Amino acid sequence: KNEISIGLLGLGTVGNGVATILQQHQQDLTYKLGVQVSIKKVLIKDKNKARLSSLDPNVFTTDVWDILDDPSIDIIVEVMGGIEGAKHAIESALRSGKQVVTANKDVMAEHGHELLKLADLEKCDLFYEASVAGGIPIIRTLEDGLASDRISSLMGIVNGTTNYILTKMKQENMSYETALAEATLLGYAESDPSADVDGLDAARKMVILSSLAFSTEVHLDDVLVRGMKDIQAGDLELAEGFGYTIKMVGSSKKDEDGIEVTVEPVFLANSHLLASVNNEFNAVYIYGDAVGETMLYGPGAGSLPTATSVVSDIIAACRNLLLEVNGKRVHAAQHERVMKSDNR
Ligand code: NDP
Ligand code: HSE
Repeated sequence: KNEISIGLLGLGTVGNGVATILQQHQQDLTYKLGVQVSIKKVLIKDKNKARLSSLDPNVFTTDVWDILDDPSIDIIVEVMGGIEGAKHAIESALRSGKQVVTANKDVMAEHGHELLKLADLEKCDLFYEASVAGGIPIIRTLEDGLASDRISSLMGIVNGTTNYILTKMKQENMSYETALAEATLLGYAESDPSADVDGLDAARKMVILSSLAFSTEVHLDDVLVRGMKDIQAGDLELAEGFGYTIKMVGSSKKDEDGIEVTVEPVFLANSHLLASVNNEFNAVYIYGDAVGETMLYGPGAGSLPTATSVVSDIIAACRNLLLEVNGKRVHAAQHERVMKSDNR
């Protein structure tokens, strides 16, 4: 193979970032992989929309099958969002032997277990690093970096939009509405931002992280979720008066009674490391029996940080294609889960 072709599903905040990185880092990528990686087709919804990207408009299509049925496309990159259409596209791509990269936590939280099994069955890879905490390599850390450890709990700020709103309300006295509008303009919020402020987005991410950390199937129904809409400026001031900061925190624990996952606003002492994670930044604490405490910190949303994770997944998929080992790089935790649920 001397070229790898990508079918990009979506050219919004994340899709534009992916196109930018692939273009700006093209020389480095070609050097690293020994082949050229190029975007062959791009799925969009509205052909009349003005585009930031310098991609040739001839690669745009509004018909997903134009991409999925193209045998010359090796990797499908799903950054269109939504659940049913995205799930269907991922399934079809895997069934036709294509590698898949997605940033879609909605799909991975609700259908990830079955999609990972399908990828295993079809001997294809399904990478989803960008689905949790944008630019932080948290999925790889749980799958590979800490594969040797027994994780007992996770705690983190995993939604950039709510963290941005709470930071602006506290530090700049901004209203909830203005802060949410800014987060939307900056590309951090979901297309329906109630998923952010009601805690559903963070709950989905905690499902993905908990499933990996504990090598089991955690489901959305298992998560206790409380949103942040009732928090008033006065609450933040009051908390500050006592030396506390209010943050939306996801928490996941495993003990002899089982696994408990929550997402809710909590009071954190100002001395707590998570209390100083501001704006769209995310952080995840991991407690492992052997490693002790470790924390990852970085941008949790936004075009280029999220696209960094997507493009790293594209590189992983390219390497597997070139080595002809796609489907064999089934990550440790993912593999364990598939084996357990299949009783193999
Ligand atoms: P946007 O809304 O900015 O972009 C979505 C893109 O997909 C648009 O180009 C849109 O087309 C296209 N699209 C959507 N539905 C269809 C459809 N039915 N048919 C054809 N094209 C379609 O979303 P984001 O880029 O922000 O998010 C994409 C995904 O990444 C989501 O799953 C999101 O949760 C996830 N994500 C987002 C992050 C972020 O910071 N924004 C961070 C991490 C993950 P058109 O341009 O014509 O409207
Ligand atoms: N809406 C999400 C957030 C995007 O604000 O964290 C990143 O997953």
